[in-house]
Amino acid sequence: MRFKPRTAATKPLHVAIIMDGNGRWAEARGWPRIEGHRAGAAVVRPLVEAAPNLGIRTLTLFAFSSDNWKRPPSEVSALMRLVREFLDAETSRCCKEGVRLSVLGLRTRLPGTLRRAIASAESATASGKVLNLNIALDYSSRDAILQAAMRLRGAAAISRADFSAALSNPPSRRATPDVDLLIRTGGERRLSDFLLWECAYAELYFTDTMWPDLDAEDLNAAIENYRSRERRFGGTPPAISDRVRGDAGLLAVSGNQDCWLH
Ligand code: FPP
Repeated sequence: MRFKPRTAATKPLHVAIIMDGNGRWAEARGWPRIEGHRAGAAVVRPLVEAAPNLGIRTLTLFAFSSDNWKRPPSEVSALMRLVREFLDAETSRCCKEGVRLSVLGLRTRLPGTLRRAIASAESATASGKVLNLNIALDYSSRDAILQAAMRLRGAAAISRADFSAALSNPPSRRATPDVDLLIRTGGERRLSDFLLWECAYAELYFTDTMWPDLDAEDLNAAIENYRSRERRFGGTPPAISDRVRGDAGLLAVSGNQDCWLH
């Protein structure tokens, strides 16, 4: 499908997605939950292909939360295997397409084969400039915040930028940018310990569509919805005379900080 082209002035977006509903999608068909995860993994490729044309520069997918270790061991190992298979299958394609793959979260508890697949995917795709594709694995935002606080303890002064950088796990990873749009599929309306600091001003979009049914048209609809909103970051709407219209929305200057209004 073709999407409305974006102008160069369009602010590149960070879209983060809580990919929920795999289990229910499978159960509704009388299938084991794992089949829902398998179908969910298959959805990622077409969305990655669509993302740059939708104006997305960073796409962060919540694949496994630190609380997901509570699931039955067979489901946990199937999820680990699916992520490894995804990395093995996608790395060379990502290299060609300029997609930089990286994983956020604790790595120490992941299986060795998965850790090696992550290291090799990250180094092979490190020069990608078209799309940053982050996969959150064994990720807990509250744990990341605690860890950052521990790293910075004793510092005389801590800026927001310092704290964002300290949130990175592994520490060598570049800071995750603020999220512009958080999407959750599967009908639930909660954040589930995902990118709490980075979502401080994120626009939230919830859809009843189960993750395995989500397609590029749905992602486009979420972005169009986002672009219809006005982002004020705590400020007031700018005077009409200060507004610069574009297909990206409205650009205003509030104090000494540029704000994009969509
Ligand atoms: C939540 O649905 C989904 C997960 C915990 C796993 C998400 C994983 C994938 C989509 C596959 C692997 C990912 C990549 C990036 C290759 P749920 O099982 O909680 O669904 P439910 O709420 O219907 O039970």
